[in-house]
Amino acid sequence: MLNKFGGETYIIAHRGASHEAPENTIPSFELAFKENADFIEGDFRLTKDGKVVCIHDALTKRTAPGQKNFRVSKRTYDELLELDFGLWKREKYTGIKIPTLEEILKIIPRGKGIVIELKEKNIELVRAIKSIIEELNFPLEKIFFISFHTEAILNVIKEIKNAKALWLYDWRYSFRKKKSSKTEQKIISKIKALGCGGIDINATQNLSFSFVEKLRADGFALLTYTIDDLDLALKLFDLGVDGITTNYPGKIRKALAEK
Ligand code: G3P
Ligand code: CA
Repeated sequence: MLNKFGGETYIIAHRGASHEAPENTIPSFELAFKENADFIEGDFRLTKDGKVVCIHDALTKRTAPGQKNFRVSKRTYDELLELDFGLWKREKYTGIKIPTLEEILKIIPRGKGIVIELKEKNIELVRAIKSIIEELNFPLEKIFFISFHTEAILNVIKEIKNAKALWLYDWRYSFRKKKSSKTEQKIISKIKALGCGGIDINATQNLSFSFVEKLRADGFALLTYTIDDLDLALKLFDLGVDGITTNYPGKIRKALAEK
């Protein structure tokens, strides 16, 4: 089924092709495009001196273990460059540095895109991202902005005209209670209240065709995360979701092609 944007369900590489390469690094994003991902997804934060860098955690210790443990927001970009973000994953990635948003946007092939996750809710982050996009003339239609922070979504809507801003929601389903953490209706009401362009969710096990249809009827986009299971990916593809976020873009691409 075609997605809302006129193509097939997008394959979105979660933190790059992070099954193999160190997450949120240039090699991981390059590999994602080699594996024919449509979009990459990355996590963004501001350094103390206002650089937009790509890192999931507020602290560096998980992805730069055995080195100084920096809080990203309290350190300058130059200080963060002291750390190695590749070695922990595989030796061949030794020496890989934290990437900036500029560096990432420059390696995105024409026609491909990026899902920018805002890990902080401050407006300075959105303003800094906006000026980088404008400076590089990166096509806005090839960007989704997502955040668990509703304030960050509102900042995007306010600061970046025509941005595709989606609410990122950790939708839990309890098999024991046979109940979701929010009803479909509540989710739709929340999207409408935020005035955003749709949702990015993880509760894919109970995603119904009727919910996908309802979102589509209201003109909302629907992305899903983080899907590494082939059967689930195929099910979501058949449901017509707009995007599947995965750590294994190549594997999911192959499964969809062989369908
Ligand atoms: O694509 C959404 C997903 O990236 C959100 O979760 O924790 O991997 O940033 P997380
Ligand atoms: Ca993320």
